Amino acid sequence: MKVTSLLLSTIASASAFSSFTGRPVSVSPTVSSTTLCMKTIAVFGASGLTSSECVYQALKNGDNVIGLTRNPSNLKIPAGSGGDKAGESLSDEKLTMIAGDVTNPADVAKVFEAGKVDGVIVGLGGKTSDVGETMLTDGTKVIMEEMKKNDVKRIAVITSIGAGDSKDQAPFFFKVLMATAMKKIFNDKNNQEEAVRNSGLEYCIVRPGGLTVEPPTGIVNVIDGQAGSIPRADVAEFCLDAINMEDFPYIGKSPCISSVGGTGWTKDRSKAARGEM
Ligand SMILES: NC(=O)c1ccc[n+]([C@@H]2O[C@H](COP(=O)([O-])OP(=O)(O)OC[C@H]3O[C@@H](n4cnc5c(N)ncnc54)[C@H](OP(=O)(O)O)[C@@H]3O)[C@@H](O)[C@H]2O)c1
Repeated sequence: MKVTSLLLSTIASASAFSSFTGRPVSVSPTVSSTTLCMKTIAVFGASGLTSSECVYQALKNGDNVIGLTRNPSNLKIPAGSGGDKAGESLSDEKLTMIAGDVTNPADVAKVFEAGKVDGVIVGLGGKTSDVGETMLTDGTKVIMEEMKKNDVKRIAVITSIGAGDSKDQAPFFFKVLMATAMKKIFNDKNNQEEAVRNSGLEYCIVRPGGLTVEPPTGIVNVIDGQAGSIPRADVAEFCLDAINMEDFPYIGKSPCISSVGGTGWTKDRSKAARGEM
């Protein structure tokens, strides 16, 4: 069953925005959109700062979540959306956490055995010294293989501003890091992105600017210039939209996103947009 529930609209002035973080790529104003009737979302790297936002927000939306991470006990209510409960342990009857390594196919298979997965979010990360030089690429390939075996089509993968063909969208200081301290991480991210692009899946590669743990702004700008910062909570909402909305406009694309400055993407939260009067 499909439920029409969202409208996309562009607001605010692009010119005011472009002087700060770059030029927003606008989505068509007032495009009617269709939301998949989502039941179960798999989140890889579920205890991470951005992934825990995905988990928390999905649960708040009433969805089931299956999360995989090496250390599930690290999962906490996130700072951005969690309000006064931030930092407390996160448990819910609709949440299944699996302890495992994403590069191990048997561990990843457990996620797909735990429920009929409708969409996947990959929020993996970590220092190379902890996770290794190829974890992102290897793990994401394992996930995508399992998706195909289980006929799961939709995936949102969080990489970074500066990855792939967005190299010139990174701020200068970040470009320096990408060429030095973060060289191995970016090599892994570039290979991860390439694997996703070649997967044949309905993918959205989500490239955020600098991540914060601030409360959600509700604003996500898709930018083709230099990107600024964005709360992890907003990244999470964008990822959830990417797997929930059948006609999400960035499927097969790799948008750079930021919340700083004007507005390029916003949800219409009115009753009318939810089909209610
Ligand atoms: N920091 C920034 O400003 C910024 C900007 C743009 C993009 N990004 C990117 O955005 C992504 C998310 O960042 P974040 O800060 O939210 O991530 P994070 O807090 O570092 O979380 C990463 C998650 O990956 C899990 N993980 C690592 N290795 C794993 C493995 N082998 N198997 C299973 N799970 C594994 C970790 O859990 P366990 O350790 O328990 O396994 C953790 O839950 C990262 O790719 C990051 O590079 C960051």
